[in-house]
Amino acid sequence: MIVELDRVTVAYRTVTVLEEVSLKVFRGSFLAVIGPNGAGKTTLLKVILGLVRPVEGTVRVFGRDPRHLGAERRAIGYVPQTAAVDRHFPLRVADVVMMGRYGRIGLVRRPSAADREAARRAMERTGVTHLANSPLGRLSGGQRQRVLLARALACEPELLILDEPAAGVDVPATESLYELLRDLHKDGLTTLLVSHDVGVVAAFVDGVVCLNRRLVAHGRPEEVLGSEELAQMYGCAAVFFHHGRAPHMVVARDECWS
Ligand SMILES: Nc1ncnc2c1ncn2[C@@H]1O[C@H](COP(=O)(O)OP(=O)(O)O)[C@@H](O)[C@H]1O
Ligand SMILES: [Mg+2]
Repeated sequence: MIVELDRVTVAYRTVTVLEEVSLKVFRGSFLAVIGPNGAGKTTLLKVILGLVRPVEGTVRVFGRDPRHLGAERRAIGYVPQTAAVDRHFPLRVADVVMMGRYGRIGLVRRPSAADREAARRAMERTGVTHLANSPLGRLSGGQRQRVLLARALACEPELLILDEPAAGVDVPATESLYELLRDLHKDGLTTLLVSHDVGVVAAFVDGVVCLNRRLVAHGRPEEVLGSEELAQMYGCAAVFFHHGRAPHMVVARDECWS
């Protein structure tokens, strides 16, 4: 087991945003946490990363308190939830990817041949090698997310954590991004992602957890996505149908998504 949360409660000042959440992430799994905006998804990831401390409950990552992971921290690749990147963001793609090595390089040492090789492999794996000299701010949403994924992979993680990886990415690019994540998972990378986008993730992951402050359902995608809990969580009737490989969610428009 790589991650274990046991009855974790998190509050920001007096507001409880996670309540008694228990969750296990096993080595080799590909798990999606889904839930509406404000459900506590990003907070859950921050708990796992040791950035937010629970008021109750215990967290173990690689068997340790994530706030004291030390060198094991490098075994976690993190793709944070991105706001739109400034169009004038000055860093080149190759520099952004090399930032993924800082955990290993340290901030002062120059990148070694091994660092450069790891960054090169990460760019190749994510298909952004040809963009190496482009400024990050110049990229499409799909390209940008691949670069941020390359940065996370550059540290050669055992656990990959992604927060809304398809935000700002168009539909075809989203599909190919998830295909890439699925291939990385097949090659042995334990993957945990969060998304409010119920429909797309289901075709690619092998477990779904529904979160809305509490965990409301947990299981294989086909079990969870037809569930009463999910419909309640989104406050409307949710119907799935299969179109190609990806299940799509259809909802009554006025009641739900704007
Ligand atoms: N640093 C913070 N201080 C106070 N409240 C926060 C902070 N971060 C998030 N929140 C609140 O906690 C709740 C859960 O936020 P978040 O974990 O970002 O949800 P999600 O990622 O599912 O949209 C929201 O109501 C949000 O406004
Ligand atoms: Mg979030």
